Amino acid sequence: MISGSVRVGSVNSAVIATAAQLMPPGFTAVIHRGLGDLPHFNPDLDHDPLPPEVIELRRQIDEAAAMLFSTPEYAGAMPGALKNLLEWTVGGVETTQKPTGWINPSAIGNRSAGTYTSLRTVLEYTDARIVAEACVDVPVPRALVEPDRVVHDAEVRTAIAGALTALAAASG
Ligand SMILES: Cc1cc2nc3c(=O)[nH]c(=O)nc-3n(C[C@H](O)[C@H](O)[C@H](O)COP(=O)(O)O)c2cc1C
Repeated sequence: MISGSVRVGSVNSAVIATAAQLMPPGFTAVIHRGLGDLPHFNPDLDHDPLPPEVIELRRQIDEAAAMLFSTPEYAGAMPGALKNLLEWTVGGVETTQKPTGWINPSAIGNRSAGTYTSLRTVLEYTDARIVAEACVDVPVPRALVEPDRVVHDAEVRTAIAGALTALAAASG
């Protein structure tokens, strides 16, 4: 599970933390926490010995049954940090046909359409398998993030659980 935001108090990170509480039976959540620590992608660095942050990222994806994203939009597209993370996965085998979905908590009007359009484009380069039923728009105003940094709102949790169920089914 990957949040595209490194902001303290991030709504997207709260959505990912909420998803981790809602895993279908038999699945365990692993939240990638290294987004802000990855070096800038550089093909010259993409060989052994790899940067340790890249080894960890690829290991987590390799071991995952599926991938779930939640990301803000910055300037009409996905944040550069998330694009950078995904660039480290292009050309590798870890993401190949990996069932993938996202929760879009900024889905208010047409806001954030650009970030998920760009996410889809880059995921397709990684050969991830985007599962339509696991790509969910569910508005999450900041007020719905509780002091424990998760969302308790029933409607939001139901939408997130639905995406996870779809990913579980796709990874079976
Ligand atoms: C520099 C900057 C650019 C942004 N650009 C957009 C944008 O193009 N479209 C949009 O809908 N929101 C934009 N936003 C708003 C963020 O996407 C929004 O605050 C989001 O909830 C932040 O996610 P987070 O709470 O997970 O950090 C921008 C915010 C910042 C700071």
